[in-house]
Amino acid sequence: MLILEKKPFRFLELIKKAMDTMAIEAHKKGLSLEYEIDPAIAGSFSGDAFRINQVLINLIGNAVKFTHQGGVALKAMPGDQEGQVHFMVKDTGIGIPPDRLVKIFDPFAQADMSTTRKYGGTGLGTTISKQIVELMGGRIWAESKMGKGSVFHFIIRADQIKADKVETGLPVPDQKTPHFQTWPPSPGTPGRGYRGQCHSGQNTPGTPRPSHHDGL
Ligand SMILES: Nc1ncnc2c1ncn2[C@@H]1O[C@H](COP(=O)(O)OP(=O)(O)O)[C@@H](O)[C@H]1O
Ligand SMILES: [Mg+2]
Repeated sequence: MLILEKKPFRFLELIKKAMDTMAIEAHKKGLSLEYEIDPAIAGSFSGDAFRINQVLINLIGNAVKFTHQGGVALKAMPGDQEGQVHFMVKDTGIGIPPDRLVKIFDPFAQADMSTTRKYGGTGLGTTISKQIVELMGGRIWAESKMGKGSVFHFIIRADQIKADKVETGLPVPDQKTPHFQTWPPSPGTPGRGYRGQCHSGQNTPGTPRPSHHDGL
C-alpha cells in the first residue's frame, strides 16, 4: 500500500538530485542530460518528494536506457490549472511503437520480447510511476515517434507553501539569478554531461540552448 508523505521540499533540489543520480549513466553513453525549471515553481511545496523522485528516476532512467544518441531533457513548469505542476521528460531515443504506447503503463508491459532481451527490466517502472502520479491527483501519458524519441508527461497536484529558511532548512531561492551549472565541470562539449538551468524568465547571454527542445 502506497501512502504519501507531506513534507516541505523544493523542485530545484529534487530535480538536481534526480539529475545527479542519472548523470553518470548518461555521461557514459555520451548523452546530454538537462533540466529546466520554471521560476514560477521555484518556491517551497508540501508533498512527497521521495515519491516524485521515484517517478523522475523511472522516467529519466528509461529515457537514458532507450536513447543511444542525443540526450534527455527534463522540464518542470506549472500546469494549466492552479496548484498543478507539469513535468516533461523528453528523449531522442528509439521511440515506442503506437500499439505498445497505449499499453505502456500496464503492469509488465514492455515494447516486445526483444526489448526485454536487449535491455532487461521488468516493465513495472511506468506502472509504479502511474500509481504514484494518480495518488498525487494527477495523470501521466506519453507521446512517441519511432526512431525519433519519446516524451513522457506527468502532472501532479502540489501545494505551494510559504516557507522560509527556518521551516524548510533550505536557503531561500534567488528568483532573479538564473541557476546554471554544467557537468562535467568544463562546458563547451556538446552532447556530453548535463546542463542544469533554472530560468529567470529570460535567456542569459551565452547560455547554450538545448537543441533537442525543438519538436520531436
Ligand atoms: N523513453 C522510452 N523510450 C523507449 N521506450 C520506452 C521508454 N520508456 C519506456 N519504454 C518502453 O516501455 C517499457 C516499459 O517501461 P518500464 O515500465 O519502465 O519497464 P522496464 O524499464 O523495466 O522495461 C520498456 O520496456 C520500453 O519498451
Ligand atoms: Mg524502466
